[in-house]
Amino acid sequence: MSALIKIDDKEFSFPVMTGTEGEKAIDARSLRKDTGYIFFDQGYGNTGSCESAVTFLDGDNGILRHRGYPIEQLAAHSEFVETAYLIIYGELPNAVQRKKFGQLLRQSGHVETQLQEIFAGFPKEAPPMAMLSSIVNALGAHFPHLATNDFEKDLKNFDLTAAIAISKIRTIGAMIYRHSQGLPFMHPKDLPFCDNLLHLMFSEPYQDYVAIPEVTKALNLLLLMHADHEQNCSTSTVRMVGSSGANLFTSLSAGINALSGPLHGGANVAVMQMLQSIHDEGDDGSRFIEAAKGGSKSNRLMGFGHAVYRNFDPRATIIGQACDSVLKKLGISDPLLDIAKHLEEAALKDDYFVSRKLYPNVDFYSGIIFRALGIPTNMFTVMFAIGRSPGWIANWKEVASNPKGRIYRPRQIFTGSTPRDYVLIDQRS
Ligand code: ACO
Repeated sequence: MSALIKIDDKEFSFPVMTGTEGEKAIDARSLRKDTGYIFFDQGYGNTGSCESAVTFLDGDNGILRHRGYPIEQLAAHSEFVETAYLIIYGELPNAVQRKKFGQLLRQSGHVETQLQEIFAGFPKEAPPMAMLSSIVNALGAHFPHLATNDFEKDLKNFDLTAAIAISKIRTIGAMIYRHSQGLPFMHPKDLPFCDNLLHLMFSEPYQDYVAIPEVTKALNLLLLMHADHEQNCSTSTVRMVGSSGANLFTSLSAGINALSGPLHGGANVAVMQMLQSIHDEGDDGSRFIEAAKGGSKSNRLMGFGHAVYRNFDPRATIIGQACDSVLKKLGISDPLLDIAKHLEEAALKDDYFVSRKLYPNVDFYSGIIFRALGIPTNMFTVMFAIGRSPGWIANWKEVASNPKGRIYRPRQIFTGSTPRDYVLIDQRS
């Protein structure tokens, strides 16, 4: 099968590609060479930038699968570390592989004293995502033998590098929280991943934080829900930076920066700020909904809409259900949950949102659970980054392992000035 493009009187034929889920694409790699044209696709919404075997997403039907496994099944039966292994290595681990992976993560969680000194250079109020990105980049400099910018060498150490990245991003995230609170750092213990994260954040020097199972379970679910999401802004950034030959840590640091924006990972913070200000104003959300319909980007209903999901975000369904039961189990009644539910109900009846297919996304309820677990709002996006690290790592690995890989280099339509002659400064108006 092929696709024909007619420009003036000339016809050009391009092969058609089909993915394993029947996704179709026109292979336009020779378009510019053959025709002199490029496709204009601002935001790349219709552009396949890569072939990937990690995650399948069908936004029209609300389907999300990692390595073939539906997100609903992983949410029900798996846990974050196992899903991380699946996403990175392509298969669910057997008992031996799972144990080995867990051990490697436990051995890699400590942040070396020299690296700890970097924290002192940041004020207490430093934005957590800026700190995370800087310190993850510093990991590459701290382990130069694992981050050589030579794919062949870096891939030889991949298992260790990936474990260091996942485990230390978690520890660094917790250290950023403690730095912001002026608290001393805790050292990782021989604990499961999520218990360790809670210990690293909330233990006191002579009083260990002991997580109740509901809290660990909820944190596990939230991290798992964020573990990967196809070619989103941060993952594509990781691939783009990686495509230049950059090592894993440098690529992850770039992905963390991409995630920090309010339209991407920063949305969970924006949702809580929105819910809080509705609460503080004593409004029921109606005024926010009206303002959001004005079309201004700064007034959007945060946690609503998604670049690819057009019916529902399956992660939002799972997290929305978990939200109720986690709060009930913890005996917490949060007025922000009531406001969120009211907003959702009102928006889903409103023609503006219905006609534009705007539904709650993963960030709409996740913040309420994070808050119930005692995690402050300014740390939500860091939690997202800890959860997303396996997806970024798997995508970097695909780039690094592809012998036919090319550097990512999109084109543009130039809309600036045509050629003109230089004018000396005293002759300028
Ligand atoms: N509130 C109000 N209107 C919205 C919203 C919203 N949250 N989202 C989209 N719209 C409107 C747009 O203004 C546009 O209206 P128009 O057709 O009259 O111009 C229409 O819906 C279509 O929106 P798009 O621009 O096609 O949406 P896009 O795919 O570019 O953006 C995005 C998706 C960025 C997620 C957007 O919906 C948004 O800003 N949502 C709020 C922020 C948010 O929750 N981000 C988290 C996303 S999930 C994640 O990254 C983990």
